Amino acid sequence: MSTTLGWIKKMKKMKIIVLTGAGISAESGLKTFRDADGLWEGHDIMEVASPEGFTKNPALVLDFYNQRRRQLLEVTPNEAHTQIAKLETKNEVVIITQNVDDLHERAGSSNVLHLHGELLKVRSTQNEYNIKYWDKDIVLGDTCEDGHQLRPHIVWFGEAVPMFEKAVLEISNADAVIIVGTSMQVYPAAGLVHYAPKNTPIYFVDPKPNISQSFIDNLTIYAEKASTGVKKVVDVLLDNQD
Ligand code: APR
Repeated sequence: MSTTLGWIKKMKKMKIIVLTGAGISAESGLKTFRDADGLWEGHDIMEVASPEGFTKNPALVLDFYNQRRRQLLEVTPNEAHTQIAKLETKNEVVIITQNVDDLHERAGSSNVLHLHGELLKVRSTQNEYNIKYWDKDIVLGDTCEDGHQLRPHIVWFGEAVPMFEKAVLEISNADAVIIVGTSMQVYPAAGLVHYAPKNTPIYFVDPKPNISQSFIDNLTIYAEKASTGVKKVVDVLLDNQD
């Protein structure tokens, strides 16, 4: 690994891809989905995070996201977000996140792809490209300029992931990949790592890592929480760039 990184440091600025999931925001106080007491323990996915659920009971869905949006405005980025932002001092960093919070941006990261949408944006129910910043509750009767009901700018289960192709392009020429805080259970996001070039160093940070060493070469696992594990990875990467 150090040979690979050593070779890279002489050639060019490294391109580092960071794939993140709900676990990176856990220490900021935001719930994950599948841990004990996670969001999917208290809610039925199909009722609150699907187009069918929104059609059946839009007020329930809007309230589910209103509660999460209000909480997001109360929390702050943690050390893991800050450390990842620090990587930008010497590297090209692209964050590809499944998270809908803005904690990466608030920590200073400048290139963030939200595969599953953003909690602080809304869009028209009749025009998925009519998107705007929105940090208030969304209620029935809140409409776009064409009079159509607004909905959260979130990719619901069963909906397309428009950013996926761009994410594949970004990871296809990565020099290193860091994966933090994801159970690797939701596709297509969970399959992204396979688009990294062969022999790309992969750093996996999660207290309960759900990735088998067998199927990915060059994998280093940090079985610990994001705030400490990410700092160790960032130290390794930056130390190799004297
Ligand atoms: N630091 C790092 N990882 C953590 C921490 C922590 N402090 N706490 C929990 N984790 C890990 C868990 O071990 C788990 O592997 O974070 C992961 C959270 O997994 P999920 O709850 O499944 O979240 P995620 O992988 O982001 O879910 C993917 O599923 O429901 C959909 O759209 C939703 O984007 C979400 C997608």
